[in-house]
Amino acid sequence: MNSLLNKCIESGNIGRDEIIFLLGLQGEDTVRLIRAANEVRQRYCGDEVHIRGLVEFSNTCRNDCLYCGIRRSNTSVRRYRMTPDEIVATATGLAKRGIGTVVLQSGEDSHYSGETVAEIVRSIKASADVAVTLSLGERSFADYALWRQAGADRYLLRHETANPALFEKIHPDSTLERRLSCLRGLRRLGYQIGAGCMVGIPGQTLEDLADDILLLRALEVDMAGIGPFIPHPGTPFAGEPAGSLDLTLKMVALARIVTRDALIPATTATGSIDEFGREKALEAGANVVMPNHTPFPYRVDYEIYPNKRCVTEDPNQCGPCLTARIFSIDRTAATGKGHSPRHLRAQAYKATKGHGCPWSL
Ligand code: 5AD
Ligand code: FES
Repeated sequence: MNSLLNKCIESGNIGRDEIIFLLGLQGEDTVRLIRAANEVRQRYCGDEVHIRGLVEFSNTCRNDCLYCGIRRSNTSVRRYRMTPDEIVATATGLAKRGIGTVVLQSGEDSHYSGETVAEIVRSIKASADVAVTLSLGERSFADYALWRQAGADRYLLRHETANPALFEKIHPDSTLERRLSCLRGLRRLGYQIGAGCMVGIPGQTLEDLADDILLLRALEVDMAGIGPFIPHPGTPFAGEPAGSLDLTLKMVALARIVTRDALIPATTATGSIDEFGREKALEAGANVVMPNHTPFPYRVDYEIYPNKRCVTEDPNQCGPCLTARIFSIDRTAATGKGHSPRHLRAQAYKATKGHGCPWSL
């Protein structure tokens, strides 16, 4: 155990069986794994926590993912779409308040054409000095290219599970292969890419979770979002148990250990199953928080899982609340765009060599 934890700290070069073993740790051993990840985080990322302002601009979705509260078959959802003007005004308002990255997220909603989204990105970039992260699901390579050209910096598209059969079972509208091909396309276009998974999906095993960690490493992700599965009453998974905080924290720790310096958020889902879930994730390797800035009345209707944190709070309170939480664990809130170190290295390499980089897929 001691030499394995040393390897975790020194190189992170651990194999599948070792990851499965670490995922099975209990009690004090779990604490030791989390401390090792915290040390890696300290060494590679420092004490800064990056802040991303999240705007959930549409809860309309053409897909029917078995776990998700805004799936198309859930007819009890009050659907909304923010207009491009509302989205741009919300995003630039965040930039004025000093937030360096705006994350625009939605269901898979083809109402927003490639050109409409490109225009939203262009308007935000023209009026504010912010990084723009998009999270709109699977779209065509042409759309991704258009948005990158318009100035989008990052794209979040969780792989959800690295088990292809489980992926297809919970996503009737897609395949793991298609998801990964989107991620590779995004990488080729020069986006900073984020993948990630849910922990505790019905039918998911520790072996599957180990494969999630290995996939994050293979994709050389810039960002890795990990949160517990939470059953939503309006879905086929209504009666299933939620993922555990303990296993989620071990996954965050292992993601930190294998990626070394990726941007890893303390997710809202982790904060939703435990009052101090986000602080615990920040102490298990995470270094990003994403306060929810979706305006009223929309924010209550982006219910991908029930009892989501902060939806009834004033969006202006989420920033200060999260900053206070960051200070409470002796960390500092970073200002600025907080680009991915992997991406900055790749760009520097490109600038000196004048051609493609060894870190790209
Ligand atoms: N429980 C937990 N996380 C969920 N997500 C969607 N539905 C749920 C749920 N029921 C996560 C997915 C998605 C992200 C935006 O939210 O991982 O990628
Ligand atoms: Fe939203 Fe605390 S983060 S109220």
